[in-house]
Amino acid sequence: MKRLSARLGGPHLLIKRDDLSGLAFGGNKTRKLEFLMADALANCCDAVITAGAAQSNHCRQTAAAAAALGLSCHLALGGSPPEASNGNLLLDQLLGAKIHWCGNRRKGEGLIEIEKELTSRGLRTYVIPYGGSNVLGAAGFAAGMVELDAQLRHSGIRADAIVFASSSGGTQAGLIAGKSLAESEVRLLGIRIDNDEPGEDSFESQITSLANQLAERVDMRDRYTPADIVLNSNYTGAGYGIVGDLEREAVRLMAQTEGILLDPVYTGRAFGALLDLLGRREFGSHEHVIFWHTGGAPALFSYAETLAESCERS
Ligand SMILES: Cc1ncc(COP(=O)(O)O)c(C=O)c1O
Repeated sequence: MKRLSARLGGPHLLIKRDDLSGLAFGGNKTRKLEFLMADALANCCDAVITAGAAQSNHCRQTAAAAAALGLSCHLALGGSPPEASNGNLLLDQLLGAKIHWCGNRRKGEGLIEIEKELTSRGLRTYVIPYGGSNVLGAAGFAAGMVELDAQLRHSGIRADAIVFASSSGGTQAGLIAGKSLAESEVRLLGIRIDNDEPGEDSFESQITSLANQLAERVDMRDRYTPADIVLNSNYTGAGYGIVGDLEREAVRLMAQTEGILLDPVYTGRAFGALLDLLGRREFGSHEHVIFWHTGGAPALFSYAETLAESCERS
């Protein structure tokens, strides 16, 4: 990102464009779904079920993958039906997904009930957990890290750090395992998007456990501890999906300097965090820092009012 790097006066900023990964406007879930949907097909399933927020990118990409493969798709979405659908929800409907509204249970608490109902109707179901973050989903990101490492070697670039949004943990677990597979020294910095849920293990422990399950599954020798997981939790603001100045400014700066659209919930927050960290001189001016764009732009449309207002003010 030459223009942005010049504008900020260093370091060298690069971008990995998973927003261009296909499956109905792209995103990081394409990498996870490559493995998960292959497993669904291998198990002769005819219906996939997954869960997320009403504006879930994971759900929209799962709906697209299911449509492309001729499977039915059931989505357990948090909240209740809005008056008008837009953003990812509209796309879910266009892609033919069946929506099950689950109130404040946006993280897959309703999946088992839906599975039971579909099974009782004779369907062979495949349940994908919240965010697609299980071993197979994380494997997609291990492969992604190996892919990026090969691209960097080919281009003769030595990356110092990779910054990305971390929410259900599959991306970060996969990246850390992929880093071992690629024998890379790059620093991985996840920016947390959600706050801890009461009663859950720490997010670092959840990612560690997933990365270790993956390492075991693919016969890697490396194992990880929570100390290996680098996460910055200082940018969760007013909570998941609540857009503030940090996200608005980040979305606008990226759009107007590089012509690239971030999303308001994940990449806007993670890139806003990176901008703040750059301002605090957390990276050397000669370092190469990669921002992993994990997609999500369709959600821009469900935040139209607040985003348009910030453009008018600027
Ligand atoms: C656009 C976007 N970026 C990043 C993430 C975070 O990925 P993960 O859930 O694997 O931590 C998500 C998850 O839904 C997402 O939709």
